[in-house]
Amino acid sequence: MTRLLIIGASGLLGINLALKAMHGHEVIGVDRGRLKSTPFRVLQTDLFHTDTIDSIVESTRPDWLVNCAALANLEECEQYPERAQLLNAELPGELAKISAQRRIRFVHISTDAVFDGEKKDLYTEEDEPNPLGIYSRTKLNGERAVQSANSEAIIARVNFYGWSLSGIRSLGELFVNNLSAGKQMNGFTDVVFCPMFVNHTTQILLSMLEKGLNGMYHVVGPQPMSKYHFGIEIARKFGLRESQIDAKSVLSSELTARRARNLQLSTHKLSTDLGYELPRFSTGLDEFYTQYKQGYPQKIRSYQQ
Ligand SMILES: NC(=O)c1ccc[n+]([C@@H]2O[C@H](COP(=O)([O-])OP(=O)(O)OC[C@H]3O[C@@H](n4cnc5c(N)ncnc54)[C@H](OP(=O)(O)O)[C@@H]3O)[C@@H](O)[C@H]2O)c1
Repeated sequence: MTRLLIIGASGLLGINLALKAMHGHEVIGVDRGRLKSTPFRVLQTDLFHTDTIDSIVESTRPDWLVNCAALANLEECEQYPERAQLLNAELPGELAKISAQRRIRFVHISTDAVFDGEKKDLYTEEDEPNPLGIYSRTKLNGERAVQSANSEAIIARVNFYGWSLSGIRSLGELFVNNLSAGKQMNGFTDVVFCPMFVNHTTQILLSMLEKGLNGMYHVVGPQPMSKYHFGIEIARKFGLRESQIDAKSVLSSELTARRARNLQLSTHKLSTDLGYELPRFSTGLDEFYTQYKQGYPQKIRSYQQ
């Protein structure tokens, strides 16, 4: 059975990847003490001490290694740029080096936000990134560190939504939780992205590993939309009130970190190399809703200390 080591197993992507991959693979997660009673093995470490990673890999001897850890809060990255550089750039470089030395298949998770959003067309893997803030700059540094240490690594630029441990990690669950609580939400009409349901992201990452792909890939949804439109789609699916979503410009928000406004990424390379069409947005939304009806958000949260 393939052994998969997931760094950042308590995060939105990490926990969903672990829960999906444990059917058919042996999963070991690494977190810093947030997880409890998970149906997969968990090792604890603080990733600010990157020297512990080598011994974790040595003791677990994985076949596949997926790095889902990051400092992913843009405002926090602006506030603590050294921490962002350590987690988003130096740690991935170290993991890439270790996996190359030990011939472990390595996936590093990056972001759509490496681009500045000025392109009028879809961004391909060939386009030159131009990050706008500390988060995206350190993520780009991470991509480069991985590329130079391990030419066989997969680098996946992602954007996803789903249910998380804290209930506040994805825009999708924020819309559901706030609208359900009768709260008003802002929906940005001038920020366009390509959201993918996280279970599709995890399924695709596993398929990429199984197929032996390597290099840079855009692993996002095939349907671009504004954040406002995304909120409306969620409200409709969950039977919540669309009128609680205010159409706003991101320029009117209090967010401090600079954000790209057009993150439409081409998934042509991914679907060609996988040999199938990526799941449609509506399919992902249906599954997000089905999980909700089946109590999956509560199940995920029960794994939190
Ligand atoms: N969410 C999106 O749509 C999106 C979009 C673009 C790119 N990405 C990328 O996708 C990846 C996963 O994102 P996510 O949304 O799943 O992020 P997340 O929920 O914030 O998870 C980040 C993970 O990193 C761990 N971590 C952070 N600092 C740590 C430390 N010092 N020691 C140990 N663990 C630490 C977190 O642990 P704790 O739980 O203890 O904090 C958590 O497990 C990241 O590379 C992110 O840049 C995400």
